[in-house]
Amino acid sequence: MVKVRKAVIPAAGLGTRLLPSTKAMPKEMLPIIDKPTIQYIIEEAVESGIKDIIIVTGKGKKAIEDHFDTSMLLEETLKNKGKITILNEMQNISQLANIHYIRQGVPKGLGHAIWCARNFIGNEPFAVLLGDTLIKEKKPCLKEMIRLFEECNSSIIGVKRVNESDVSKYGIVDVKQGNGPLFNIHNLVEKPKIEDAPSDLAIFGRYVLTPKIFDLLAKQERGVGNEIQLTDALQTMLKYESVYAQIFEGESYDIGEKLGYLKTIIEFAIEREDLKEDLVQFMKNIVSKKT
Ligand code: G1P
Repeated sequence: MVKVRKAVIPAAGLGTRLLPSTKAMPKEMLPIIDKPTIQYIIEEAVESGIKDIIIVTGKGKKAIEDHFDTSMLLEETLKNKGKITILNEMQNISQLANIHYIRQGVPKGLGHAIWCARNFIGNEPFAVLLGDTLIKEKKPCLKEMIRLFEECNSSIIGVKRVNESDVSKYGIVDVKQGNGPLFNIHNLVEKPKIEDAPSDLAIFGRYVLTPKIFDLLAKQERGVGNEIQLTDALQTMLKYESVYAQIFEGESYDIGEKLGYLKTIIEFAIEREDLKEDLVQFMKNIVSKKT
């Protein structure tokens, strides 16, 4: 059985939908209450059994490296002040996983960002977690995707049903009837027009892939948005290997756009014992004043 041990987190995008907040701060560092988005994503990878992670960064993303690095000054200060709980929390961040970095010199799209990680991954399967998509489920869906990969040894893409009006925001897959929890993909289209969408099953940012994808990405021509698209390389992959979809029922949150970011913060806050009660009361008050 081939084990999935490594993950790629592409985090090189410019975050234009959230400007000006992302002018000098990576969107992956935007806080969901008191924790940056990318830390949730690293924690999901670790809970799914991944130890070695490469983050594909770009210009202006240094804060990500600083966040997962040790901060001697901060640790010393917290220690001197006797703030031991928060000190332990800070130390745990830098020990979460073996985190490596590579820069995508030119913003040529998601497919190119993944290709930048080829030397780190080598000839083994790997997971991909998009740096701006958070998933909320009791058991990480990536963990289940990895378990299924290790049974069938074929690439698996996490998909979710979306409203017809939203299909053009996503990569859309078309599937044949499945085998257990997996569905055989026979067509993938990146951000189709509503009339061209083959289904309502959208790729939401979690993949487990075979290394064959690197050969295909190397030759992949630019697609939608003049970028090298991972979805297009996966469509080519169908000529050589089976690719499966796992339909996922939980919630996913796109923090890369304004409303998605706001909804994420509210949902995550409502689940926190220290914030829930006051927040719910506050929201009820606002709603009653505005309606
Ligand atoms: C990327 C992928 C797309 C996927 C989406 C999920 O698009 O290319 O297939 O559905 O992430 O969020 P992006 O949102 O980076 O444009």
